Amino acid sequence: MQEKTTDISKISDAIGAQLFGHGPEPVIDVTHDSRQAREGTLFVAIKGLTMDGHRFVDDVGRRGAAGIISEYDPPDNFKGAWLKVEDAREALAKASAVINGNPSHQLDLVGITGTNGKTTTTYLCYALAEAAGVKPAMLTTVEYRIGDKREPAIRTTPEASDTNRFLRRAVDDCCGFAAMEASSQAIDLHRCDWLRFKIAVFTNLTQDHLDYHGTMESYFDAKKKLFDGRLGEAPSVCVVNIDDEWGIKLVDDLRARGQRVVTYSQRQTADFIAEEINVSLIRGTSFLLRTPKGERQITSPLVGRPHVYNMLAATAAAVELGYDLEAIEKGLSTCVGAPGRFERVPNDRDFAVVVDYAHTDDALLNTLKTARDLTDGRIITVFGCGGDRDKTKRIPMGRVAGENSDVAIITSDNPRTENPMEIIREIEVGVKETGTRYEILSDRRDAIFKAIALARQGDVVVIAGKGHENYQVVGNDKFHFDDREVAQEGLARTAETV
Ligand SMILES: Nc1ncnc2c1ncn2[C@@H]1O[C@H](COP(=O)(O)OP(=O)(O)OP(=O)(O)O)[C@@H](O)[C@H]1O
Ligand SMILES: [Mg+2]
Repeated sequence: MQEKTTDISKISDAIGAQLFGHGPEPVIDVTHDSRQAREGTLFVAIKGLTMDGHRFVDDVGRRGAAGIISEYDPPDNFKGAWLKVEDAREALAKASAVINGNPSHQLDLVGITGTNGKTTTTYLCYALAEAAGVKPAMLTTVEYRIGDKREPAIRTTPEASDTNRFLRRAVDDCCGFAAMEASSQAIDLHRCDWLRFKIAVFTNLTQDHLDYHGTMESYFDAKKKLFDGRLGEAPSVCVVNIDDEWGIKLVDDLRARGQRVVTYSQRQTADFIAEEINVSLIRGTSFLLRTPKGERQITSPLVGRPHVYNMLAATAAAVELGYDLEAIEKGLSTCVGAPGRFERVPNDRDFAVVVDYAHTDDALLNTLKTARDLTDGRIITVFGCGGDRDKTKRIPMGRVAGENSDVAIITSDNPRTENPMEIIREIEVGVKETGTRYEILSDRRDAIFKAIALARQGDVVVIAGKGHENYQVVGNDKFHFDDREVAQEGLARTAETV
């Protein structure tokens, strides 16, 4: 067990800093958020695009900060400890690992990256660890968990300081396993540096976030850093989807470096394979799972082929961690995945209701295609677009909904400070182009009720946009609103009239 370090000169050595002056000791924490700084905190001053952390140096000093980490020389009149480093974000990651006693070395940490499927795969990994009798922790877009204790998520991949603090608590609470999503942006911002990933998983790479990364090559390169040791230490095992062309490239690059790679596929020879896949809205998904440790017939409550990929990824990680196939089968057959990701609203009617987080045109297209593959009935889609956010996606989302639905019901998402009807009118332009039947009901509850009232045998009602969210933001007010609850109300109301 590694000791926590509180000695500033040891921390300075560990992060390769040049130490000027001295300040109050011991060091108990490190942060780049001046609001979190208190007595004993090292404050990392980061010069960001919109804000320069150096503005807060005096303020955190007055509050008893143990010192400042910065890429610059200390100002002439500065009194206290100043640690000059090459890269402040990397220093934040390394200092937080050292101060917290490197908690990622004390459990099996799995990092999951890719454009889609990170959250679901993280939930599945958590379930497989639990089924194997290992107390798990996880960090996801939806929530953070240590064992059964749940906490709201601040962001998909927290700052390294938050992750190390979280993992410290997980280790102290006897967790032997943790899974976390590693978004490409977070990797790029050094949030995953100096974490020891036993296993890194690559789910897929499709066009997204190019506003941030510029090209697919640089988007891929950001993700690759999780695998090839550029974050500090390379993972012991890399788990890669080879039905994705970028996955094949990743395997070639990693094998050329002599790293251990384990592959999965639904279409070709690989270490982990799913065959005889059968997807049903009612019965979930069944398939024959083939692994180097043997075969198992799996029946999962998750619906859709994309989720079979997520199950293969989680299984590969679990086998590599030494979990036995009985535990894996049990975990896969009971895990309901992440809330709001193609989540079925339970009902005993002859149509299905699904809630999905899709809030971009691409995600909506994937979700509606999955729904279309599952039924010969109609697709009835309820959706809207958020206010005060990217307006350019409104017409494309309308178009996608129109092209891939039999009935589109345009409603409000989180209108925020915009006029809900103005957002709806923009979406309507896209739907109208497709000639598909549509209705406008700006009240989301009315829209969901209407969709359920329209549904007949074999239809699928897709309620898109909010997924796991349990609120709606109208103006500056946040109201409780949960698509799944409202769908249940709608089902109960229409049941009386059937
Ligand atoms: N393996 C997969 N391949 C393609 N699409 C998927 C896959 N898994 C889930 N999806 C779909 O992608 C969307 C996002 O799923 P999920 O939340 O698990 O991924 P994510 O990578 O965590 O996304 P985000 O970056 O939004 O947090 C959902 O609409 C889901 O239906
Ligand atoms: Mg996610």
